[in-house]
Amino acid sequence: MSDASPDAPPASLTVIAIDGPAGSGKSTIGRRLAGDLGLEYLDTGAMYRGVTFAALRRGIDPADTDVVARLARQVELDVTNGVVVVDGVDASIEIRGPEVTRAVSMVAANAEVRTELVRRQREWAIERGGGVLEGRDIGSVVFPNAVLKVYLTAAPETRAARRSQEVMDLSYETVAADLARRDALDQGREASPLEQAEGAVVIDTTDRSIDEIVAELAGMVPG
Ligand code: CDP
Repeated sequence: MSDASPDAPPASLTVIAIDGPAGSGKSTIGRRLAGDLGLEYLDTGAMYRGVTFAALRRGIDPADTDVVARLARQVELDVTNGVVVVDGVDASIEIRGPEVTRAVSMVAANAEVRTELVRRQREWAIERGGGVLEGRDIGSVVFPNAVLKVYLTAAPETRAARRSQEVMDLSYETVAADLARRDALDQGREASPLEQAEGAVVIDTTDRSIDEIVAELAGMVPG
């Protein structure tokens, strides 16, 4: 999919786009790759989670499209350095919790929310001359002219096992069911569905080490 929007970002930035479903390794690989290349890293999922957190905290129904869109335009979000601050409140723990995880797909399907967050993501990268951005639509919509586009995959059981190691208080079955539900919503939605961007390098992370994948990707970045 190409970006036909008039405010498409300049091609001169060193942007690396990493997309893929939950548990495919985006965050671990994205952070490591950014460190190796001396670039900053942006977890765009944390931004969708941050808007969802702000809505729930104010008692806003995530299904209320217009109110959530207005909130997205107003909310203060800072997702740098692994700490997620939403309207001045450290929400790093809560944004990964079950309430936000349950509601985030609905917020992410809101086209106006996406327009606002994509605008902020482009601004973030333009201010820095580039960066490693990770999400669902980075290579397809946010930066279709990224210098490197990566689509990570892994077997559903592997992704669920990785995620259930991170969230200790939920069973493997609960985590696996949640991932399958979110995969279906993310792939089936109308606004910027999760898909392999044109020209993306596809890597299956099921049986490969992080070191090996990071080295391979670093070697693909034009010098
Ligand atoms: O970490 P995990 O893969 O569980 O999800 P995340 O990256 O934190 O993203 C949470 C949700 O935000 C996803 O399930 C998507 O619905 C949405 N998202 C999106 O629509 N577009 C992005 N660029 C990033 C996340």
